[in-house]
Amino acid sequence: MNNPRKIIIDTDPGQDDAVAILLALGSPELEVLGITAVAGNVPLALTQKNCRIICELAGRPDIPVYSGAIRPLVRELVTAENVHGKTGLNGPELSDPTMPLQAQYAVDFIVETFMSEPENTVTLCVLGPLTNIALAMIREPKIIPRIAEIVLMGGGCFEGGNVTPAAEFNIYVDPHAAKTVFNAGVPITMFPLDVTHKALTTRKRVEEFRSMGTNVGIVTAELLDFFERFDEEKYGTDGGPLHDPNVIAWLLKPELYTGRHINVEIETASELTMGMTVADWWGVTDRPKNAFFVRDLDAEGFYNLLVERIGALCP
Ligand code: RIB
Ligand code: CA
Repeated sequence: MNNPRKIIIDTDPGQDDAVAILLALGSPELEVLGITAVAGNVPLALTQKNCRIICELAGRPDIPVYSGAIRPLVRELVTAENVHGKTGLNGPELSDPTMPLQAQYAVDFIVETFMSEPENTVTLCVLGPLTNIALAMIREPKIIPRIAEIVLMGGGCFEGGNVTPAAEFNIYVDPHAAKTVFNAGVPITMFPLDVTHKALTTRKRVEEFRSMGTNVGIVTAELLDFFERFDEEKYGTDGGPLHDPNVIAWLLKPELYTGRHINVEIETASELTMGMTVADWWGVTDRPKNAFFVRDLDAEGFYNLLVERIGALCP
């Protein structure tokens, strides 16, 4: 592919993060400059290890993986083993990685990349709490105008929250980091629960991965088998919402999605609504429209893309 789009993936794997990374690595339109791990679904020691497991699963031990923030900016770390299991990648049997972790701190890698790459050529794909991104902006504010776009999974409006009635997990874990990023002025495209809850794994869709017969296809199915059980029970649906791969699918097929440029503010004062994304969908304020809030998708098209690209991964 000539002139692939350069991206950094910041992530807290997590089964859905894993599928997002596989989608990116199976898509020649994208050049993954690096993967930066953050504490979130499980502690950092596991998320950085899980990033490497996924790269090796995709046959890409060449992808540099960096370890980042061990905890949120202000609050204590909240994790989600109840959803993702103790390892963060429960479901399949997975071996420990052999590829090395990069020595450089993830935040320094993010700063160095944006200061060295031509401005507006690198996109940040954020799949977990925004701690690394906020730290990079604070460490070197000069990177802010150089970031082409931040595409993130997080927040919610009409769907409410998934970790509290008001807040979605990624924003809830580090609301202060989210506030820093949403107020930075960088173009943001956000994938809240409002759209990810329409991207259900369903039994038919999971079996499409298993029937690939490849190791990566079978492992993907086993990751989703485990991941969906929590939300199936909670929502009473066939399958659970597949959140993070929407961030990557947006880069590949934006026509799958519809949304609106609106103002989004982050609650950091009230304990009751901590981490709530206050989304002005109806434009009742004159606050700046700082985010493209994605609300709908072509779910069949999304899964067809996942099957096509993960099916092409045959390490
Ligand atoms: O609320 C869903 C988000 O939280 C996803 O990114 C999932 O991986 C968890 O990090
Ligand atoms: Ca995630």
